[in-house]
Amino acid sequence: MKSIVTGGAGFIGSHLVERLLDAGDDVVVLDDFSTGRRANLDAVADRAALRVIEGSILDRRLVDEVVNGADRVFHLAAAVGVRLIVDRPLDGLRTNIHGTENVLDACVRSGARLLLVSTSEIYGKNTADRLHESSDRILGSPLTARWTYAAAKGIDEAFAHAYWNEFGLNVVIARPFNTVGARQTGRYGMVVPNLVGQALRGEPLTVFGDGKQTRCFSSVHDVVPAMTALIESPECVGAAFNLGGKREISILELAQLAIDTTGSSSSIVLVPYEEAYGAGFEDMRRRVPDNSAAAAAVGFDPITPLEAVVAEVADDLRRRSHVAEPVAL
Ligand SMILES: NC(=O)c1ccc[n+]([C@@H]2O[C@H](COP(=O)([O-])OP(=O)(O)OC[C@H]3O[C@@H](n4cnc5c(N)ncnc54)[C@H](O)[C@@H]3O)[C@@H](O)[C@H]2O)c1
Repeated sequence: MKSIVTGGAGFIGSHLVERLLDAGDDVVVLDDFSTGRRANLDAVADRAALRVIEGSILDRRLVDEVVNGADRVFHLAAAVGVRLIVDRPLDGLRTNIHGTENVLDACVRSGARLLLVSTSEIYGKNTADRLHESSDRILGSPLTARWTYAAAKGIDEAFAHAYWNEFGLNVVIARPFNTVGARQTGRYGMVVPNLVGQALRGEPLTVFGDGKQTRCFSSVHDVVPAMTALIESPECVGAAFNLGGKREISILELAQLAIDTTGSSSSIVLVPYEEAYGAGFEDMRRRVPDNSAAAAAVGFDPITPLEAVVAEVADDLRRRSHVAEPVAL
C-alpha cells in the first residue's frame, strides 16, 4: 500500500507516518517544514519504505506528481496554531484553502482515497454539551484573524463534500479536538507544551483570560489509529467524525496538572487575552465532543489519561532540551 502524508513531518503527521511504516506501507511525506521538523521523523529516517519530499501543497504540479499512483492520502499539512494564524492570516488562508484544493484535485485525478484532517475549531463558539458532527458553527467576524483558521477548514470540508458528491471522491473527514503528545511544539500557541515548558523552566505558567475555559484534550496515540481506521472504512466515505478526549478540564486545572506532573515550584498567572493576542481576540468558553459517531464507526475510544499525556509531553521536552536543537523549553 502506498500512502502519502502531507504535513508528515509535523506533530500528528510524524506519529501517523510511524504507524503506517510499522503496518508495512510505502510512505511518502510532503512537507515544507514550516512548523514541522525533519527531526520528528528521526525514529524512522533509515526506513527504506519512507521518502520525504520537501515542498509545498501550494505547488499544484508537485502535489499531482506526489499523489499520482498512491492508494491513499492523509492530508494534514496546514498552517496551524493560534499564534501563527493571528500573526499571518493570509498565509494561513492560502495554505489551508488553496493547498487543500490542490490535494483534493490530485486525489480525484489519481483515484486515491483521502483522509482530510479538519478541526474542532470549525464549531467556533458553540459551547453545546456535546458537539455533534451536525452541530451549528458559531464563528466570530471573518475580519477577526483568529476565525480565519476555522473559516478555511470549514471551506475545506465543504470542498471535500462537494468533490465526493460531484466527482465520487473517496474522502472521509476527521475533526480532532486538541490532540496532544510528544513532538508538539509550543511555539505557535499550543497550550499543553507551553504550560509544561514553563513548569519545567520554573517560570510562571501563563493562563489566558480567567482560566475557566475548558477543553477535552486527547492523546495522539488514540487519535492516529482512528485516522487509519476511518480511511479504511467504506461506510465512512463522505462523512465527518469528531476525535476528541473524554475529560473536560479548565485551563487553570491543566496548568496545575502541569505543575504537579513536573514537580515544579512555578506559580500560575492570569494574562488578559488582549495582552497575548491583541485587541478584539476571542476564544471559546468550552468545547466538548460527542465521539459517538467515531466510536460506532471505528471503535474510537480515547482511553489515555490526561496525566499520562502531560507526562509524555514533559519527558519529550526534557529529552529535546538535552540535544542540540531549538526547543520551547
Ligand atoms: N494538534 C491539534 O490539536 C489539532 C487539532 C485539530 C486539528 N489539527 C490538524 O491536524 C493537522 C496536523 O496538525 P499538527 O498539530 O500536527 O501541527 P503541525 O504544525 O505539527 O503539522 C502541520 C504540518 O504541515 C506542514 N505544512 C504547513 N504548511 C505546509 C505547506 N504549505 N506545504 C506542505 N507542508 C506544510 C508543517 O511543516 C507541519 O509539518 C493540521 O491539519 C491541523 O489543522 C490538529
